[in-house]
Amino acid sequence: MPHQSQRAAVALVGLSGAGKSSVGWRLAGRLGWPLRDTDALVVTTSERSIAQIFAEAGEAHFRALETAALQQALGSPPCVLATGGGIVLAPENRALLRERAFVVWLDAPTTTLITRLQAHDEPRPLLQGDNPLERLEALRAARAAFYTEVADLCVNTDERSIEEIVAQIAHQIEKGTLSP
Ligand code: S3P
Repeated sequence: MPHQSQRAAVALVGLSGAGKSSVGWRLAGRLGWPLRDTDALVVTTSERSIAQIFAEAGEAHFRALETAALQQALGSPPCVLATGGGIVLAPENRALLRERAFVVWLDAPTTTLITRLQAHDEPRPLLQGDNPLERLEALRAARAAFYTEVADLCVNTDERSIEEIVAQIAHQIEKGTLSP
């Protein structure tokens, strides 16, 4: 467990559709901290969409940009940080998250995640193709141990309001886990 005063950020991790952006936005408002988002930072820095980066430069290039975005975002605390679902893949990202942030793993059944993604979200390069449910299940299987490794708190977001979820996370913070 890192020294508490080193961690003045809350990082939200989890698969696509877990609610990282919407929970992050509300949590940041409640804490009065800025909201940062690794995907948004990557898009701003590269002046390309995530889909374009994957198509034109490949996943490895995206992952390098994503690591740089994570370092930038956690470099000036405090903040609430929404991350891309694959942020936990790189060992250096996991180390940085554990060192600098109180990490919250947002999760819900894969069918719920797919329903949310189909309802209102932009296409994810790794979920394109015939069977997005199967693809997301495969990502879950490959990543679950990494989410477990970094998470200080796991929050089920299925059939719960954003307010409830934010209240649960804020309660942990107010217990003194963080020191902005
Ligand atoms: C990815 C998830 C996406 C985005 C990119 C890769 C992943 O972010 O970073 O498409 O590897 O799971 P969201 O988790 O916000 O969908």
